[in-house]
Amino acid sequence: MNGSTIEHIPVLAETLAEQISLPPDGVMVDATIGQGGHSFLLGKTLGPEAVIVGFDVDNDALRRARSKLEELACRAILVNSNFSHVSEKLRESGIERVDFVLADLGVSSAQLADAEFGLSFQANMPLDMRLDKRLEHTAADIVNKEDEKSLADLIYQFGEDRASRRIARSIVRQRRIEPITTTGQLAQTVCRALGRKKPGRRSRMHPATRTFQALRIAVNNELENLKQLLASAPRLLNKDGYVAIISFHSLEDRLVKNDFKQNADAGIYRILTKKPIVPTRQQVLDNRRARSAKLRIAQKQ
Ligand SMILES: C[S@@+](CC[C@H](N)C(=O)[O-])C[C@H]1O[C@@H](n2cnc3c(N)ncnc32)[C@H](O)[C@@H]1O
Repeated sequence: MNGSTIEHIPVLAETLAEQISLPPDGVMVDATIGQGGHSFLLGKTLGPEAVIVGFDVDNDALRRARSKLEELACRAILVNSNFSHVSEKLRESGIERVDFVLADLGVSSAQLADAEFGLSFQANMPLDMRLDKRLEHTAADIVNKEDEKSLADLIYQFGEDRASRRIARSIVRQRRIEPITTTGQLAQTVCRALGRKKPGRRSRMHPATRTFQALRIAVNNELENLKQLLASAPRLLNKDGYVAIISFHSLEDRLVKNDFKQNADAGIYRILTKKPIVPTRQQVLDNRRARSAKLRIAQKQ
């Protein structure tokens, strides 16, 4: 399947727009521009002096964002780079300070559906998971090459799956028969390890969800990238500038929560979301991808 026709519905975009107020000539960094949904909505309030700098590692996403943002009055600079390099990339564009840093973490609906990315257990695809094709190692490399203990540790650490040892054992057994090269093979192997064919009655979660999450985090170095973005934000933000992060699992949310708290304790941030903002029932009904979203916002003092 190709994801190029799939429209990604931005998560909590209106909610975010209600919480912040950008100067009409402000500079906004969208660290995960995707198809530009958040930037488009927020950019409607910006004037011709304003700039949106959008980052993405996926060229197809940048192409779609470019055509969407053309309709706005403000300027858009789109950068094909990991957001972990945000400071140096902004400096290359002559930008030292910004009024807003936004990250809507994870993957888009288009990427999930696109066999090129090999992310989904809902369809059978080559097991890849690299959002940035410049990365060297795919999920298949990890699954077929790591030893059993490292695999179990990875699934436990990044997937928080208590069945990690059973899953790792099953993967190693399966790959002795033949290499695991597709998402379907991996999903089946996990289901077999857990003795389940599909989501159980009590949980609507697919048994392979956590293993897939763990591999995606490892392949794309997601937690380290987020740490670097969070570390860059205080130095980039103007006084009263905002940082907003939308995360989709507890490992990311914990990093954001702790970072905001540390900066608040140091008198650098004011936290605007004592508890993370989560989608309403209606927002989840409208967009299932929103169901695990958590939005945290802080403002530079
Ligand atoms: C959830 S989507 C963003 C969707 C976007 N907010 C919208 O409304 O269309 C996440 C995007 O971030 C990109 N991405 C993920 N990690 C990244 C990173 N470390 N650096 C740059 N882009 C990244 C993905 O390629 C994907 O396009």
